[in-house]
Amino acid sequence: MAHDLLILAGDGIGPEVMGEVKKVVGWFNANGMDFAVEEDLVGGCAYDAHGQAVSDATMDKALKADAVLLGAVGGPKWDKVPYEVRPEAGLLRLRKDLELFANLRPAKCFDALADFSSLKRELVEGLDILIVRELTGGVYFGEPKEIRDLGNGQKRAIDTQVYDTYEIDRIASVAFELARVRDNRVCSMEKRNVMRSGVLWHDVVEEVHKARYSDVQLNHMLADAGGMQLVRRPKQFDVIVTDNLFGDMLSDVAAMLTGSLGMLPSASLGAPDAATGRRKALYEPVHGSAPDIAGKGLANPIACILSFAMALRYSFEAGEAADRLERAVEQVLAQGVRTADLIGPEGGAPASTVQMGDAIVAALEGN
Ligand code: NAI
Ligand code: MG
Repeated sequence: MAHDLLILAGDGIGPEVMGEVKKVVGWFNANGMDFAVEEDLVGGCAYDAHGQAVSDATMDKALKADAVLLGAVGGPKWDKVPYEVRPEAGLLRLRKDLELFANLRPAKCFDALADFSSLKRELVEGLDILIVRELTGGVYFGEPKEIRDLGNGQKRAIDTQVYDTYEIDRIASVAFELARVRDNRVCSMEKRNVMRSGVLWHDVVEEVHKARYSDVQLNHMLADAGGMQLVRRPKQFDVIVTDNLFGDMLSDVAAMLTGSLGMLPSASLGAPDAATGRRKALYEPVHGSAPDIAGKGLANPIACILSFAMALRYSFEAGEAADRLERAVEQVLAQGVRTADLIGPEGGAPASTVQMGDAIVAALEGN
C-alpha cells in the first residue's frame, strides 16, 4: 500500500529545498518504495491564496496523511498581516491540531564538517545525540498567562508552568522507545531543586522507567548543569528528554555543536493511533524561510533531506532506507561538495541547491 506523504513547501527557500527532497522521494519510488505525494500550501503563500496560513482543507489532508513534510514559512512580505493569520500561525495550527507533543531534534556531527562546530573537533567527532522536547505543554501554554496592571504604575507578567502526569508519561515513553533503537541511554533534565513541575517530571520519568523500560539506562540532570555538560562533554549523551522551555534552549545549544542551520532536521510526533499504532507526524528542517538567500539557488537542502530521512525512520519503518540516505549525505560531504553555508573562510566554489540535491541522489545509487 502506498505511503501518503503530504508536502507543504511553504515560503522563501522552502520550495527550493523541497524540490531536492522530491527528487529523493522519486529515487526511492523508482527503487522499490511507494510514496503517494500530495502537495499543498502553508504559510504566507496559503495566506495569499486563502487568507489563512493553513486552510481547513489542507488541515484535513494533514490529518489523513501518513506524514507531513514541511519546508519553511514566513518572510518580510507578510510582516504586516494580522497576527492570527501570520505564516507561523499555520505551523502552530498543524502542531496543535495534529497533537504533536514530541519534538525530536538530533544533533549529529558529520565527520567532514567537524571543524564547523563551535567546539573543538575531538569533542564533537562522532557525536550523535537526540533531544526529545515536550512540545505542547509547560510554560508556553500554561494558564494564567497575562500581563496584569497592578494600578500603582507597576505591571506583573505571569507565565505558568503546568505539567500533568500523562504529559510527562507519554514524552518519557517516546524517549525510552527511541533509546532502545539507539544507544539505550536516556538522560532526563529538569529543575526539581526549584520547581514543583521538576519534582513531578523526575518522579514520573522514574515510574515509567521502572514500569516499562527498565532495560534502558536512565539518569537525571538538573537542566542548567545539563546545558553545561552539553558543551563540556557532549558525547556522554544519547537521548535527552526534557520539557518545552528547557528543550527549546538545549536543542538550540546542541544545534551549534554540529555546524550550519542548513544541516539540522527535526520531527514532531503525536500519540500512536489506537487502531493502527501509527503516530501523526510532521517533519521539517529547523531553519526558517531565509529571505536573504531565497530565489538565489544558495540554500542548503540537507536539513530538509535529513528531515525526510527521519520520516523514513519514524513514520515508514524504513530504517535501512533512512541509513542509506544519511550515508549518501555523508559521502557527498566527504567528497567536498559544499553549499555556500558550509564554506569557511578558506573559500572554495559553492555548489547550488540543485547541485547538492543531484549529488545526494547520485550517491544513493552507490549506498
Ligand atoms: P532563518 O533560519 O530563515 O535564517 C537564518 C540565517 O540562516 C539566514 O542568514 C539564512 O540565510 C541562513 N539559512 C537558513 N537556512 C539555510 C539553508 N538551508 N541554507 C543556507 N543558509 C540557511 O531564520 P530568520 O532569518 O530568523 O527568519 C526568516 C523567516 O523565517 C522569518 O519570517 C521567520 O519568522 C521564519 N522562520 C520560520 C521557521 C519555520 O518555518 N519553521 C523557523 C524560523 C524562522
Ligand atoms: Mg528555539
